[in-house]
Amino acid sequence: MPFEAPILSVENLTKRFGGLIAVNSLTFEVERGEVLGIIGPNGAGKTTLTNVVSGLYTPSEGRIFFRGEDVTYLDAHQRCRLGISRTFQLMRPIKEFTVLENVMVSALFGKGLDLKSAKEKAREVCDFVGLKRVNIPVESATVLELKKMEIARALASDPELIFLDEVMAGLNVDETNEMIETVKRINSRGVTVIVIEHVMSVIKELTHRVIVLDRGKIIAEGSYEKVSHKPEVISAYLGEEE
Ligand SMILES: Nc1ncnc2c1ncn2[C@@H]1O[C@H](COP(=O)(O)OP(=O)(O)OP(=O)(O)O)[C@@H](O)[C@H]1O
Ligand SMILES: [Mg+2]
Repeated sequence: MPFEAPILSVENLTKRFGGLIAVNSLTFEVERGEVLGIIGPNGAGKTTLTNVVSGLYTPSEGRIFFRGEDVTYLDAHQRCRLGISRTFQLMRPIKEFTVLENVMVSALFGKGLDLKSAKEKAREVCDFVGLKRVNIPVESATVLELKKMEIARALASDPELIFLDEVMAGLNVDETNEMIETVKRINSRGVTVIVIEHVMSVIKELTHRVIVLDRGKIIAEGSYEKVSHKPEVISAYLGEEE
């Protein structure tokens, strides 16, 4: 196979909040087409990493390369149009809008579509994630519908790389299984996926490789089978969650 550059490359990435180092000199690569899991205890820096790579926060130090291009100081919307997308752990839908309208907003601003094309795109991605009640006010949506909407919003910009930040949290077993299938379908369309999740069975089922964060640093990296047996991972993470 011809050599292909990693879709994402992060070098010595650091994010400080005052004296707190949330992301501490992280270096890793993500290959095109893989499903990478990022796990770690509460406060490990998973969401902060997502925020820095997607452009919500400027890093304190380090570099971010997307498809070989330095995007470290690009705005979030520029990165979105290049193909980096993400869901929000703390969802912030526009309450006055319907489900479809919320997804349309992403297609309009994330992809720069006109109104008609944005509506078509929103319908397409809602259909893809299995959202049926698209014309209800977002306030009447169930947790599962909100999670699907969050993924639909992230897909509306046609990403090449997507961060899914705890999209299974709060779902029951059947709902989680449906989401796992959805993530597999996203990946099979050629989208590289970074899954942040506390539920280990989800990580085991979905990921090709796992990075374990603790206090902003990588403490283990490898297949789920490999990292889940490491004592430092068990004590940092699994011990806490079980
Ligand atoms: N905007 C912010 N301002 C100040 N501190 C922050 C901010 N965002 C995150 N932090 C701190 O950075 C650390 C990492 O938080 P982060 O949300 O990235 O963790 P996480 O791994 O996503 O945790 P969880 O599993 O609970 O979602 C925490 O100590 C958190 O309090
Ligand atoms: Mg988080």
